[in-house]
Amino acid sequence: MQAVSTGQTLAAPIPAQTAYLNGEFLPLDQARVPVLDRGFIFGDGVYEVIPVYDRAPFRLEEHLRRLKRSLAAIALTNPHDDAGWSALIDTLIAHHPWPDQSVYLHVTRGVAPRNHAFPEGVKPTVFMMSGALRLPSEAERTMGVSALSLPDFRWLRCDIKSIALLGNCLLRQAAVEAGCKEAILFRDGWLTEGAASNIFVVSHGVLLAPPADHLILPGITYELTIELARTHGLPCEVRPVSEAETRAADEIWLSSSTNEVLAITRLDGKPVGGGMPGPVWQQMAQWVAASTRAQRGRGR
Ligand SMILES: Cc1ncc(COP(=O)(O)O)c(C=O)c1O
Repeated sequence: MQAVSTGQTLAAPIPAQTAYLNGEFLPLDQARVPVLDRGFIFGDGVYEVIPVYDRAPFRLEEHLRRLKRSLAAIALTNPHDDAGWSALIDTLIAHHPWPDQSVYLHVTRGVAPRNHAFPEGVKPTVFMMSGALRLPSEAERTMGVSALSLPDFRWLRCDIKSIALLGNCLLRQAAVEAGCKEAILFRDGWLTEGAASNIFVVSHGVLLAPPADHLILPGITYELTIELARTHGLPCEVRPVSEAETRAADEIWLSSSTNEVLAITRLDGKPVGGGMPGPVWQQMAQWVAASTRAQRGRGR
């Protein structure tokens, strides 16, 4: 039978990058998974995004710990030990020209006939790719970014770094359509997180962070930010943060592996505090930069 073209074309070409798929390194545009992969059918898998500075993964131990936690939460056996993951990640980094990269890794429950219950004896699918690390622009750092508040309608296991991100995609898209960089999510009057970031609030000189419970992802940058606040003696409270406190904040920040810590200077079109990145953010951004600089010296 003759193959029929679907007429589908890619809006953007697949970048010339190397992928890792189930034991093989190959060009990204040649990597294929069967349509019955449970990642494709059910979103049944977990992932990590690891920033790389000067060819060394930043906070790798913490990322691998969170990966293990996510895998355990969905009852999926870890396909590699830490040394195995580390070696694969190093090889993937070495395939690419950029000193600073963003490694994406993804494990699904593998290929099986479509049935909601878990199949037995199926090998997980392991996929990785890496691109240039794209940190916020100079303008975003200098001026801060805008956010849109939205009700958090996602499921109740946001602590699992699940590849099923439809809720997050819908929320981010609504923010982008409103001309914003990120959504700030509230559930029943309480701050949770962003569509793809954690959110911090500064109120009267105190850094406030919602607790890392089942309603947010325990961000590696979130943990770093709290750790740096404690190390440097910045008052920091990890506790539920109300929507009213967030709206009255002197400063609001977002944090993620590819944004580091970024000031949100407009919320729903209104200025946050003075409408410019605040002094506490300036201080934290310097501490974060010092951490990533310390890493740079250790490039391999
Ligand atoms: C929903 C969500 N929360 C928080 C984060 C921040 O996590 P990390 O600092 O580990 O990048 C992310 C990152 O992608 C995310 O998707």
